[in-house]
Amino acid sequence: MKLGLLGQKSLLWTLRTAFFPWALTSSAARADTGASNGITNIFKPLSTPAEAIYEVSVLVLTICAGIFLIVGGLLAYTLIRFRRRPEDDGREPPQVYGSNQIELAWTVIPILIVFVLILVTARTIADVQNAARPAGALDVTVVGHQWWWEIRYPELGIVTANELHVPVSDPTKRRPTFLKLESADVAHSFWVPQLAGKTDAIPNRDNRMWIEPKQPGTYLGNCAEYCGTQHARMLLRVIVHPPGEFEQWVEAQRQPPVDDSQVQAGRNVFFSTSCVNCHAINGTRADGKFGPDLTHLMSRETLGSGAAPNTPEKLRVWLRDPQLLKEGCLMPNMQLADTELDHLVAYLLTLK
Ligand code: CUA
Repeated sequence: MKLGLLGQKSLLWTLRTAFFPWALTSSAARADTGASNGITNIFKPLSTPAEAIYEVSVLVLTICAGIFLIVGGLLAYTLIRFRRRPEDDGREPPQVYGSNQIELAWTVIPILIVFVLILVTARTIADVQNAARPAGALDVTVVGHQWWWEIRYPELGIVTANELHVPVSDPTKRRPTFLKLESADVAHSFWVPQLAGKTDAIPNRDNRMWIEPKQPGTYLGNCAEYCGTQHARMLLRVIVHPPGEFEQWVEAQRQPPVDDSQVQAGRNVFFSTSCVNCHAINGTRADGKFGPDLTHLMSRETLGSGAAPNTPEKLRVWLRDPQLLKEGCLMPNMQLADTELDHLVAYLLTLK
């Protein structure tokens, strides 16, 4: 069979999808947002739970690769060694039934292998789930919504969205982040491959997980449970700050929104439309709970949970009609006139 270049490309793509599903989000996420190394690879763990999972997966893959090579090798040997030859007399070869040794071997060895895999996996799960909390641990509540992430820091009084900011953890001064996962509607799943395994966010249930990133940087993730139309644009970024920088971020997020009289017209647009029913801005009468908190909107890198980079141009496109950037999202087209849009964008740009 001859394949054109396109055919080869799509064949490669299919193989990649089949064998390396974890590598898929990287290019899509990178295209939308720019800044980040774009790695979403479980084989490059940079956090304690992800490292534990990586070690188990390498062990499982090694054992399975060994089995594959032995079985495949014996099969290939048999096919070649005992293939049909012209000088064959056409009679059936001697039939051999029953061999206690072989039967025993292929019963006992797989049982032992499965037993080893069960023990190692159970132990890793227990180690990750029962990990002791060091004194410096940070608590964050993450709430999955269709289709964005609400992120709350109960002890710090901060509410943000889609971008989880955490401190880097140092072996001498550990600072892991413990997450409580909730859902406001349907089942979602929180997954940042380099930091930890997936954990579902399920309505009326608190699930817990933790991450302990060891290198500063931006880590990409996504919702890993199909949750409706825009499941694929329910992206996540975890921003890991070097020592000291996380405190600066906290300080900035705790500031009240800037009250700039220059943007009064835009403020009026915001407070006279139903924006206030869904969004909150600290210290104002906007205290909606359905959409992301906007107090420090412009401190975030993306709009619409990774649907677009958070630039003034894209913000305007978003406000004109969110359905263009994220079809099916729950934010309606507010039918604003051009001047209203300009004013509103100017106001939102002050929410740094
Ligand atoms: Cu949320 Cu898929």
